Amino acid sequence: MTANITLIPFELHGDDRGSLIALENQRNLPFDIKRVYYIYATKTGISRGFHAHKNLKQILIAVKGSVEIHCEMHDQKTIYLLDTPDKGLLIEGMVWHTMENFSPDCVLLVLADDYYNEADYIRDYAIFKQGEHV
Ligand code: TYD
Repeated sequence: MTANITLIPFELHGDDRGSLIALENQRNLPFDIKRVYYIYATKTGISRGFHAHKNLKQILIAVKGSVEIHCEMHDQKTIYLLDTPDKGLLIEGMVWHTMENFSPDCVLLVLADDYYNEADYIRDYAIFKQGEHV
């Protein structure tokens, strides 16, 4: 794990009725949410991502099913398995990441600290590697 990748356990309010998780800006989330999106119905064998962000902070949560998040920063590669709604993976800037091995039922919820901005993406791996050395 690097400083820009953090697995965050969420408090589970479970009782005999089932489970509930609450996420609040600046309380158990480290930023104010500006954008929410979710990825679902991912076809078998499809991988997504293949980019880094310059500044964006995001928290990825598998609210249903499972997915692997492959992360790379400064030649350190780590695979995080998201397979339960009670944890989130915080990915900050300059982490090359891919989402792989989605289960067919996976719903991957993403909370972001900023609006969609294509200018914040680095989609070229060679440029990402160059950017790590400046
Ligand atoms: P893309 O960047 O390919 O997704 P992934 O990171 O999963 O590989 O995004 C797919 C499309 O959705 C692309 O046309 C951009 C658009 N999009 C938005 O309009 N808003 C968003 O918040 C996101 C994440 C993507």
